Formats: sequence, structure tokens, C-alpha cells
Amino acid sequence: MSWWWAGAIGAAKKKIEEDEPPQKHEGVALIVGVTGIVGNSLAEILPHSDTPGGPWKIYGVARRPRPTWNADNPVNYIQCDISDPEDTRVKLSPLTDITHVFYVTWANKSTEAENCEVNGKMLQNLLDAVIPNSPNLKHICLQTGRKHYIGPFESFGKNIPTHDPPYTEDLPRLNHINFYYTLEDILFAEVEKKEGLTWSIHRPGNIFGFSPYSMMNLVGTLCVYAAICKHEGVPMKFPGSKIAWEGYSDCSDADLIAEHQIWAAVDRFAKNEAFNVSNGDVFKWKHFWKALAEHFGVEFVEYEEGGEEVKLEELMKDKGSVWDEIVRENGLTVTKLEEVGTWWFSDLILGGECSLDSMNKSKEHGFLGFRNSKSSFVSWMYKVQACKIVP
Ligand SMILES: NC(=O)c1ccc[n+]([C@@H]2O[C@H](COP(=O)([O-])OP(=O)(O)OC[C@H]3O[C@@H](n4cnc5c(N)ncnc54)[C@H](OP(=O)(O)O)[C@@H]3O)[C@@H](O)[C@H]2O)c1
Repeated sequence: MSWWWAGAIGAAKKKIEEDEPPQKHEGVALIVGVTGIVGNSLAEILPHSDTPGGPWKIYGVARRPRPTWNADNPVNYIQCDISDPEDTRVKLSPLTDITHVFYVTWANKSTEAENCEVNGKMLQNLLDAVIPNSPNLKHICLQTGRKHYIGPFESFGKNIPTHDPPYTEDLPRLNHINFYYTLEDILFAEVEKKEGLTWSIHRPGNIFGFSPYSMMNLVGTLCVYAAICKHEGVPMKFPGSKIAWEGYSDCSDADLIAEHQIWAAVDRFAKNEAFNVSNGDVFKWKHFWKALAEHFGVEFVEYEEGGEEVKLEELMKDKGSVWDEIVRENGLTVTKLEEVGTWWFSDLILGGECSLDSMNKSKEHGFLGFRNSKSSFVSWMYKVQACKIVP
């Protein structure tokens, strides 16, 4: 594990630590969205004996029953719909020992105005249930994302002025509604109400991780696409643009994001700050496409200049029964194609250009964690197979 403090202690920090012995934490975490792409990583990492702030007691919230692939983690699993204020109050206000909240959930609506309303209510319901009832609550981690700098999905391709990458955390908000801004404002207003309560905001780019319940899961989606190509004996065309094929992209490993949030939760130098969180390297999709094809034993094809545009949403729209057959024949965990293939998201990411961020602020505050994106990509492909989501 690449914990951030390896070599990360600056002179100022050293001075303080000489004067004050490091605090002993015994955290009680509430992971909101525990079966999501980062929630699942938090649920796996928090219980480790060497995780800072521990030993951790963990509560995890999601709406659906607990899936098998998440069941081994020592988490007190609570089925609760945080968009319902009564359900949230009844199920979460009795948890009076929470010390840290990890908010890694969201709702995807068709307009950004609806996103602001629904996501704002979800966070408000959660904080209304937790803040007044958890006297030892110390810190809230809120995960948003890079759309903070580029605007919501609905503004993509509409020539709305955005910032020039690489993005840094000090850039002003864009002149467009954004549910990330709504969440930040609610968080800022709520932490004010409790003395000593701190916050951190985490802004990943495209996340490489594992969760068949995630609303945006690029690696899982590409694994399912590869499995379908293999089953049908067809070459795996790149469903994206030339610029994504040849240009520099980056990503944020879900385990790295979990480490980043745990760092911010327990490190005094990370309090009340927003941070980007990405792996710290760049890659080209043409290289990763080859790795994907090789991993699944599918024929690799180069991006075809001037060829027919390939969109996964279109290619995969009639493949539900093919997927059911693949699941049955290979004895896989039973899933529906629409759960494990977030085609729209892949089309969006691979169809556009990637804008990079800067990790300087995290490093300057003491977080030196990183990931090799190629190893990250490959390891999540293995995880998707190990959990029997794809053959
Ligand atoms: N995924 C990415 O690549 C990516 C990249 C950059 C930024 N982000 C941002 O990161 C934030 C978190 O997204 P994510 O992708 O990590 O989440 P995710 O993988 O889609 O997971 C969402 C989690 O929340 C749960 N959930 C959803 N609605 C709920 C509700 N009403 N009550 C209780 N639990 C609920 C889901 O389980 P149930 O459905 O069973 O409830 C699931 O466990 C979002 O703001 C997103 O925009 C994501």
C-alpha cells in the first residue's frame, strides 16, 4: 500500500510532530454509497490493520440488498434511501458513534437542475440525520469530481467557457449550475453548525475501480464489451474518437481515492480543503486498448481513420440476451447487461478529449500517493473476473 506519509513530511510538519505526539484515532466511519466504485474500495481498505485512523468500525449505506461481491468486508450494512428524509432519519440517526463520514454517492437525473435538487436533498437528509446525533463527529469527506472545472454533462460540447487544463483547485467556479457546487454549499453551511467539525472535498477524474452497481464504471463496462466481442468472435473496435485514441488521458484509481479520503479524514494538514485526486501519470487509449484485447483474447483493431463512428450505446442495445447467455454458460454472478455496462458513460469518455488536472496541492499538503495507471487498469480487469462478473 502506498500510504501518503512515506517521505511526505515537510519541515513544518516535522516541527509540530516533535512537539506533539501523533494522535491515536479510533474511527467510526459511515460510508454513504458503500457498494459504489469508491465505496467498495473504502469498505475494503478501512478494515486493514494498518489503515490510518483505525482500528475502524464501519457502517455502510446503500439502497439495494448487500451484493455477494461486497459481503466479505466487515461492514455494518444498512439499506437506506437517503433521498427519503424519513428513511434516513429512522435508520441513520440512531448511529450516535460516527466520527467520520465518507460521502461517495449521487443520483443521475436528466437535467443539471434536477441533479442539483435531488443530490442536494440527499446530502441534506444525510447531514440532518448524522450531525445532531453524532457528538463525536469530526470530519466529512465529500467526493465530487473533475466536472467541477469542465461543467456538468449537459454542458459538454455547448461551447460554454470552461477552464484551461491542467486544473488546479483554486480555479473559480464556472458560470453554470453544477450539482457539485450545490453539494459544496450545503456542506459548508452544515459544518459551520458544529464546532470543530472539518471537511474535505475530493475531485477525481475518470475512476478505474470495481463495482457492478456503479452508475459510471469504465473498466467494468469495457470488460463486458470485450467479453461480448469474444463470445461473438468479432474484433473489438474502439468506441471513441481519434483524440482519445492518440491523446493523453489520465484516470483516478478507486483505491487511491479511498486512501486520499482516509488521509484527509485523519491528517490535520488536509482539513477544510478541496483536492484533486488522480493517479499522477498519463496514458494513451491505443495502448490500453491493446492490453484489454490481449487480456480477454479478443482481436485488437486499430482506430480506423474516417471509419464508421462506433458508439457502445448503439452496438450493445440488443445484446441483453447475449449477455444472459454468457452469464449462464460461464456460471457468472447473475447480472443484467444494463447494470454492468454503463455504455453512455464510456461513449462520453472515449468520445471526447481528456483534460488533465494537477496533483501539486495534494503533494504540497503531504499526500504522495500515486498509481501506475497501466497496472491499475490491469488489476481492475482481474478483479472484475475474480468476482465472476465477466468470464
Ligand atoms: N465513477 C466515476 O468515474 C466518477 C468520476 C468522477 C467523479 N465521480 C463522482 O463521484 C461521486 C460518487 O459517484 P461514484 O461514481 O463513486 O458512485 P457510484 O459508483 O455510482 O455508487 C453510488 C453508490 O451510492 C448508492 N446510492 C445511490 N443512490 C442512493 C440513495 N438514494 N441512498 C443510498 N445510497 C444510494 C449506490 O447503491 P444503490 O444503488 O444500491 O443505492 C452505490 O452504492 C459523484 O458525484 C460522481 O459524479 C464519479
